[in-house]
Amino acid sequence: MPVYSVSNVEDLRICVVMVGLPARGKSLIATKIVRYLSWLSIKAKCFNVGTYRRLQTIHPSASFFEPDNTEGEKLRREAAVLATKDMIRWFEEENGVVGILDATNSTVERRNWILQICREEGLEPMFVESWCDDDEIIMHNIIEVKTRSPDYEGQDPEQSVRDFRERIRNYEKVYQTLDDESLTYCKIINVGAQVIINRIQTYMESRIVYFLTNLHIRPRAIWLSRHGESMFNLSGQIGGDSDLSPRGRMYAEQLPELVRQSVGDAPLTVWTSTLKRTQQTASKLPYPKLAWKALDELDSGVCDGMTYEEIEEQYPEDFKARDDNKYEYRYPGGESYRDLVIRLEPIIMQLERQENILIVTHQAVLRCIYAYFMNVSQDQSPWMEVPLHTLIKLTPRAYGTEVTRIKANIPAVSTFRQKGSSAKHDATPQTTAELHLSL
Ligand SMILES: *[C@@H]1O[C@H](CO)[C@@H](O)[C@H](O)[C@H]1NC(C)=O
Ligand SMILES: *[C@@H]1O[C@H](CO)[C@@H](O)[C@H](O)[C@H]1NC(C)=O
Ligand SMILES: *[C@@H]1O[C@H](CO)[C@@H](O)[C@H](O)[C@H]1NC(C)=O
Repeated sequence: MPVYSVSNVEDLRICVVMVGLPARGKSLIATKIVRYLSWLSIKAKCFNVGTYRRLQTIHPSASFFEPDNTEGEKLRREAAVLATKDMIRWFEEENGVVGILDATNSTVERRNWILQICREEGLEPMFVESWCDDDEIIMHNIIEVKTRSPDYEGQDPEQSVRDFRERIRNYEKVYQTLDDESLTYCKIINVGAQVIINRIQTYMESRIVYFLTNLHIRPRAIWLSRHGESMFNLSGQIGGDSDLSPRGRMYAEQLPELVRQSVGDAPLTVWTSTLKRTQQTASKLPYPKLAWKALDELDSGVCDGMTYEEIEEQYPEDFKARDDNKYEYRYPGGESYRDLVIRLEPIIMQLERQENILIVTHQAVLRCIYAYFMNVSQDQSPWMEVPLHTLIKLTPRAYGTEVTRIKANIPAVSTFRQKGSSAKHDATPQTTAELHLSL
């Protein structure tokens, strides 16, 4: 399988070392980097020292984290060694490209220990620090994340918060922020209010930095909708630039009310593709709109305007090749899902920066955007069913994204074709309630 070009432009292996006091969102940042890079087919994995430590002790009390508690220190050191060993094994055995070591690596001495390991293993070290002195953000992090941490499972939340603040104080006593000019680092201050970068040298590092500078934690949601049923969906043709069907126009009529019920009075911006069917679907929405070429449907090249039956007849090998590896398959003269993901990267960057956005676009494009937020693998994402006439709400949370689906009660033909199934087009409308939602 071809590897995404960016990862072999430079034959590099990067060890990202997270730095920061507890409750600074380090794990959140680490998992987001992994999700983003994996979506781009760059092999990335996070090694969380806390997980290794939890295997050793259950429910540690704050005194476990005191700097002069030698037993606690010993166990933490062992956990860090185990995590690091696993990471090195992963680089070697699985051809990892970006490994992330997620620990509270607070002192210069500890950073030097990691630097030495990187040197020995030929890894490029990059430190990412989340620095924060905004009490509101810290409290928010403690409540959102930490009181739900496995360390505090089954305990009184107020007691947990107190215990956690106590634990942070112990780390503060020995914390040393990044300021060594010889290191490669990115220091994010108060969730992006300020970002300091130092000695960023490779393309991969600058990409990670660029991604990090776009992140924010203001509450928001992203709504996704396919266009309403199109004339091509009735005839089973793919691609093209057809108008909405009468039922598709009904969906466009109902969409404003559906959106209003979910969004309320919050400000919203609507993004569409440049194709008629998405613009017609969004036409009744009373919000600012932006049309993106990057949101246009996957280009089906020579098959544009054909039905799946015609494709199976005229290009039987292509039809099969697409079933065998739908992610990599590129229509002659068109695009593959992989191509589409690369085209969508700027959209994802913009989405990370924005607050409430509703995207009205096409099935393949929605699958890719959904896969990014929901961490869906590449074998699965091209096969996800995205029903017509359904509004999907994604709410990013500290450890994952919540999904809600809101169905308009308008039937539509099912345009979903299962892997290996025949190309037979079924023009019988199904009510959305009957559509089976395996998204
Ligand atoms: C950070 O890394 C060092 C390696 O010097 C390790 O010993 C330490 O336990 C790590 N910090 C924590 C809190 O896990
Ligand atoms: C629905 O119709 C559009 C053309 O209007 C087409 O691009 C899309 O692929 C159709 N959906 C499916 C999965 O057939
Ligand atoms: C994302 O999916 C991969 C497997 O595809 C899994 O290893 C990883 O733990 C998942 N990450 C999150 C944050 O759920």
